[in-house]
Amino acid sequence: MIYSKYILPKLLDLMCSLDGFSKKRQQIFPKAKGKILEVGIGSGLNLEHYNHSNVESVVGIDPAEPSIKIAKQKINMLSLPFPVEFIVGSAESMSFNDSAFDSVVVGYSLCTIPDVERALSEISRVLKDDGRLYFVEHGLSPEESIQKWQHRIAPYWKKIAGGCNLNRNTEDLIRNAGFSFEELKKKYIKGPKIASFHYYGVAKKS
Ligand SMILES: C[S@@+](CC[C@H](N)C(=O)[O-])C[C@H]1O[C@@H](n2cnc3c(N)ncnc32)[C@H](O)[C@@H]1O
Repeated sequence: MIYSKYILPKLLDLMCSLDGFSKKRQQIFPKAKGKILEVGIGSGLNLEHYNHSNVESVVGIDPAEPSIKIAKQKINMLSLPFPVEFIVGSAESMSFNDSAFDSVVVGYSLCTIPDVERALSEISRVLKDDGRLYFVEHGLSPEESIQKWQHRIAPYWKKIAGGCNLNRNTEDLIRNAGFSFEELKKKYIKGPKIASFHYYGVAKKS
């Protein structure tokens, strides 16, 4: 309880602020536009990467209230020209109308959301037919030798990293949810190979 309420939110904020992650966010998230839903917004690390002139509004959903508290503090410093609303809730069951958003943004959360297939189905439902899903994730390495370690370490990692799975294949998950890729890049960033293979890009409903 003390760990998840006081330590984990600050630890995630610190870890996810690392330069390699920020560089990937910067490559994808300025493309998001219109009414944006950010799934698993956490401590709001993506907010600084939006292109102000593209954004009408942002709604961020996350079940972790302590992380949302950190995000709210960041907003005060960023003085963003668009409204940001926070909702404490889970991506697997969202109360938004169908086709409510032009863009859905997900950064390092598809690795953590417990029922990620259901969350992606919800993302598809709330996204307009011509909308886009902008994602940056770490996940399953293409190398078998690394995969072995990812599978071995995953259960322990999950316990200390707030439910994060090292070994999800983001590409398959997004495709199996009925999306096709307009842009998909896959590569290691700097860092230990078990946690640094990245999937990032833009997907549309197919
Ligand atoms: C590693 S953090 C990433 C936070 C932020 N998106 C970022 O880019 O730094 C994973 C986030 O997923 C959130 N999360 C966990 N379960 C979730 C769920 N069911 N629905 C939505 N978000 C969830 C966590 O609370 C956490 O904030």
